[in-house]
Amino acid sequence: QTLTSYPQVQIAHLNDLHVGKPVAFDYPLKGQSCYLIRLGTPALDGVGPQGDVVAFSTTCVHMGCSLADHYRAAYNVLGPCPCHMSTYDLSMGGMPTIGNATENLPQIELLVEQHGAIFAQGVWGLLYGFEHNLT
Ligand code: FES
Repeated sequence: QTLTSYPQVQIAHLNDLHVGKPVAFDYPLKGQSCYLIRLGTPALDGVGPQGDVVAFSTTCVHMGCSLADHYRAAYNVLGPCPCHMSTYDLSMGGMPTIGNATENLPQIELLVEQHGAIFAQGVWGLLYGFEHNLT
């Protein structure tokens, strides 16, 4: 089955999120690993009452190594990547700040509905290893 548009999927509730504790989820397809994170400071395209809730792919756009378990809350970054040190600023749309990556880490488009449920509904950027994020 091939998706032609992004699914809207509930991934968590605002009450589930704590600064420094990422929530792992797959989006848009199974195996496309992402983190939902409350940064504690406002972020570009952040959602929630403080604008500090963001989500990103945890697959490094340089050569596809996993950035899971490499979230550093004190700096609002994912990285350094264990392969070649790329580090991505999660408050700045996933902009690479150190290392070999030349593109932003793909950011997941989020929606918070009025009772606090958080949905993923799109991806900004191309996930590593895919010609199209949905196939
Ligand atoms: Fe992450 Fe190279 S794969 S920096």
